[in-house]
Amino acid sequence: MTPEREADGVTTGETASRARSPGANSVEGFKASVGGDGLRILEHLPEIIRRGAESLTPAEKELLKWLGVFYRRPTPGKFMMRIRMPNGFVNSEQLRTIAELSRLMGDNVLDVTTRQQIELRGFTLDCIPAIWQKLRGLDLRSLQTGMDNVRNINGCALAGLTPHELFDASPVVEELDRIIVGSEGNPEFTNLPRKLNITVTGCLDNCTHNESQDIALVPAKKGGRAGFNVLVGGKMGSGGFTIASPLNVFVEIFQAVGVVLELVKIHRDHSPREARSKCRFRFLIEKWGIPRLRAELTARLGHELAFQGRDMRSSQHADHLGISRQKRARVAAVGLSIPVGRVNPEEMEELGRLADVYGTGEIRLTTGQNAVIPNVPRERVPQLFQEDLLEKFSPQPSPFVRGLVACIGTDYCSLALIETKGRAVALSKALEEKMGAGGKPLTIHWSGCPAGCGNHEAADIGLRGFKTKIGGKIVDAVAVYVGGRTGPYAVAGKEILATVPCDREFPEVMAKVIESYRRESEYERGGVLGDPLFTAAATLGLASWRSSLSNAASASAD
Ligand code: HEM
Ligand code: SF4
Repeated sequence: MTPEREADGVTTGETASRARSPGANSVEGFKASVGGDGLRILEHLPEIIRRGAESLTPAEKELLKWLGVFYRRPTPGKFMMRIRMPNGFVNSEQLRTIAELSRLMGDNVLDVTTRQQIELRGFTLDCIPAIWQKLRGLDLRSLQTGMDNVRNINGCALAGLTPHELFDASPVVEELDRIIVGSEGNPEFTNLPRKLNITVTGCLDNCTHNESQDIALVPAKKGGRAGFNVLVGGKMGSGGFTIASPLNVFVEIFQAVGVVLELVKIHRDHSPREARSKCRFRFLIEKWGIPRLRAELTARLGHELAFQGRDMRSSQHADHLGISRQKRARVAAVGLSIPVGRVNPEEMEELGRLADVYGTGEIRLTTGQNAVIPNVPRERVPQLFQEDLLEKFSPQPSPFVRGLVACIGTDYCSLALIETKGRAVALSKALEEKMGAGGKPLTIHWSGCPAGCGNHEAADIGLRGFKTKIGGKIVDAVAVYVGGRTGPYAVAGKEILATVPCDREFPEVMAKVIESYRRESEYERGGVLGDPLFTAAATLGLASWRSSLSNAASASAD
């Protein structure tokens, strides 16, 4: 089998480490071909459109991602566009337009992603100018959403509204987006060694995955002043969930933008640029150490920063689904679960209509691939609950859907080893049938390959897809992780089962894992499993089952 190579440095499956020689980095060459600024592919766009998708060079396929245009190998000739939504803020008019674009030019499939933005799918290259024209009129843009850029900046979906925040951090997110991307893109920030994920939040209930971000600003207090502590160097992906380290600085709100910008520039100027898999901010921090990073930051700022303040975050995890109180009396925010974030244009329009009719036209997207309608007068909530859309996008989903996240999978992603979204929904339904709709919600995260875009190591139950051979047949399978979490007590999920085929027994196996996990979690009172492999497998009689699968997996080596 030929390994599929991806410019982000990942190849499919086990061949990953062998496919690229150490030190090779074609993307730096691609960027150099446009003067180091990927946005300059825009100058070639008319000609690229004229030539057509079939004639795209490897460099063009990658460089188009600076414009937010993604060549999708599984759907030849049909592209995907990521639309930036800083802090997950969007409004009904924007949703209606995106729905219309999907219907007129796309394939009627839209995805709400864990970076709180929307992916428009299935359009041809010649549609790009028309799509941008529509988006621009609504203050939306797709620039710098892929490759070596600062990705959509995350924040609490209820920023400014929830009483559970130390302060509204969304103006910091907006200002950062304005500077780093703005309306035309900003070449100062388009030649990073790799992507950079940023979250800025004042939410006390850990609704964003701060510990997996390259840079995260989290609410803190020092000497009676409110501000942020700064975490750096978190990441997910093929190397596993690496938890961000405290930079040991306290940043006042007015200082936050300046501090983040300098950190981004430090990544730009100093992070490695050789082997793609080693170009994340984390690797610079490992080389330098935190004291040197802090010294470089303060030198660039030209002033000292206070040492970190008191972390104000609770140990709670809010998903902002269901009814949430707002600071304003007599209104509520209603969070709706969008199973695996997949939406069709009619549903998206309807979401916009509900936001207009019941709220103020605002919608907030969450890092759980869900949506919140804020500012609903309390007396109108029961009526909202009667709306047809809420049968599918429930404010009270089953515990197996509530925390369900799935990456794109084989439908559209060329790296995917298995189908994820449909399978994730099917498993959650089967679990509800088997285990009932009671019990505490679980986070169940699916990634279709080791790249880990579904954050599978940051969930109660994480599933990473791959292919294996059983009885001479290639089948879809998952590795099962448990006990992952973000927040002040972040921990990476541990792999407890190496090979679980996605066959008829799959729901039964997962039900056992979940039963065990729930029982363990109760004993541990929120702690991490002591020895998950032993407890999950042995106590439930899964050990024999596991060994038979291990045999199957090892058989696949021949
Ligand atoms: C290590 C290499 C990685 C590669 C090659 C990779 C590749 C991809 C691809 C091809 C897609 C688009 C699929 C589609 O929508 O058609 C995607 C989406 C996404 N990936 Fe990754 N990914 C990588 C790592 C990660 C990591 C570590 C994260 C963080 C958890 C992540 C988060 C996401 C998210 C959130 C999306 C949805 C789009 C968005 O809102 O940005 N990816 N990734
Ligand atoms: S984790 Fe999912 S979206 Fe990311 S590269 Fe793998 S299959 Fe594609």
